[in-house]
Amino acid sequence: MAVQVATNSQGLLPGSPSPADPMAGLRVAVTGGSAGLGLALVKELIARGARVAFVARNRANLERVAEDHPPAHGIVGDVSLKDDIHPIAMQITGELGGLDVLINNASSLGPVPLALLGDTACEDLERALTTNLLGPFRLTKALLGALAASGREGRGAVVVNISSDAALNPYPRWGAYGASKAALHHLTRIWNEELAGEGIQCLSVDPGDMDTALHALAAPDADPAALRRPEVSAREILNNLVSVLPQRSPSGGENR
Ligand SMILES: NC(=O)c1ccc[n+]([C@@H]2O[C@H](COP(=O)([O-])OP(=O)(O)OC[C@H]3O[C@@H](n4cnc5c(N)ncnc54)[C@H](OP(=O)(O)O)[C@@H]3O)[C@@H](O)[C@H]2O)c1
Repeated sequence: MAVQVATNSQGLLPGSPSPADPMAGLRVAVTGGSAGLGLALVKELIARGARVAFVARNRANLERVAEDHPPAHGIVGDVSLKDDIHPIAMQITGELGGLDVLINNASSLGPVPLALLGDTACEDLERALTTNLLGPFRLTKALLGALAASGREGRGAVVVNISSDAALNPYPRWGAYGASKAALHHLTRIWNEELAGEGIQCLSVDPGDMDTALHALAAPDADPAALRRPEVSAREILNNLVSVLPQRSPSGGENR
């Protein structure tokens, strides 16, 4: 077992952001930040000194998370609704004073319980597509100007789209979700090519099978002990993110 120390090498309390952490001061928005992987990302980002805005539909849960994790800023909104996108985008940039990283994490399974495609209602496929594909597309589009400004300033403009192994593997009964994640994965790759000139990078990341509410809905018989903790996936995703950010000096300015 690892030995716990009272302070780290810089004399900071455990959990205090290190001024040298590339996450310190980074302006990050996370959709679906009130539970599961999104909540784990919000917690880890705050612990590492990032400035965070997060989105979810349920106001009570969102307010509880915001209260428990100051100074994270909660935004009530549904990424599957076209009319919610611009209000969400404006609150993100207004609250953070711009944006460096957008993490499109909110997701829908489509039909619950999962169903064969032949038994999937068109409305369930539509919900998976509007939440998992159109929502990230619209929100990214609405935030392109802010991300391009971050890229110009050398702060490291990145869009992280949360994918799934169901994007690549044709699992029976995962048709609506898998098709939406496959489309998101490919959209991400194309956007990464198209936005390179703006200094914006787009990453598609599979977090692995995690012990979350979404997984319990999809696979109620799965043993939670056999699944990853969302905190583990969140840490890996943020370490990947750090690896693509420009090097910044400890004072917060970037090294050229
Ligand atoms: N869990 C896994 O094993 C697994 C595996 C591979 C990939 N993934 C991916 O990982 C990501 C996170 O999944 P998770 O398991 O952490 O999910 P989760 O536990 O169900 O959490 C979902 C979060 O998203 C919010 N949300 C859902 N629909 C939304 C919408 N339309 N607009 C805004 N917020 C919305 C929820 O809050 P409200 O309900 O209040 O909106 C909640 O905060 C998803 O993209 C998922 O596809 C998960």
